[in-house]
Amino acid sequence: MDLEIPDIIIAIDGYSSTGKSSFAKRIAHSLGFLYLDSGALYRGVTLLVLENGWHGGDRIDTEKLEPALSGLDLHFEDHGKGTRTYMGERCIERQIRSMRVSALVSPVAALACVRHYVDQRLHELARDGRVVMDGRDIGTTVFPDAQLKIFMVADPLVRARRRMDELAEKGETVQLEEILENLRKRDYIDSHREISPLRKADDAIVLDNTDMTLDQQMDWLRELLVKRFGK
Ligand code: DC
Repeated sequence: MDLEIPDIIIAIDGYSSTGKSSFAKRIAHSLGFLYLDSGALYRGVTLLVLENGWHGGDRIDTEKLEPALSGLDLHFEDHGKGTRTYMGERCIERQIRSMRVSALVSPVAALACVRHYVDQRLHELARDGRVVMDGRDIGTTVFPDAQLKIFMVADPLVRARRRMDELAEKGETVQLEEILENLRKRDYIDSHREISPLRKADDAIVLDNTDMTLDQQMDWLRELLVKRFGK
């Protein structure tokens, strides 16, 4: 984008599979900003729980998990193929996108110790500004002073179809009904949990992209940026 944007933080929140990460990645690419995917960090912690068997159903063994968080190195690397999530030296990008992780991530993300860990990591990673970050509570809790906040919504069926296509691309075949059920469950847990529930920040702008392509969303953003920061 041929726009001069100050060193701001852009917070993109919204429901699961509303296209937040595709939009955020595109924004980062066009503005030369750093992209931070907060959901990937929650997914990374969930993978740790699953691989160690620290759960029984949706109940997480916090006595085991909490001490492990202090030494947990979750970060992002970009080797020319887009941002990938790492746990130490191990790339965990594929594993954290599986249905197995999606099925447990909301209860994990509802835990105080996990939210504290991820908030801290995000602040460390966003130190230098010029960041676009997506999640559920970025504009309300993590960066309440973010200069631009967008809240994304879309029709649930459209969201489920997008998620199904995404999984299919990665070789995972999942029925639409199972995905819809997972989205419903996650929406509910994410917006009803005690600590930083998913909600629109008062100063966030709603973007309903049900019938919008990514290019149209970028045109929408461009107009917004010109209005806010244009000279
Ligand atoms: O964006 P995502 O679907 O990858 O996020 C996975 C889960 O992580 C989501 O169900 C809720 C949680 N999450 C959260 O609680 N807060 C955030 N800022 C980002 C994600």
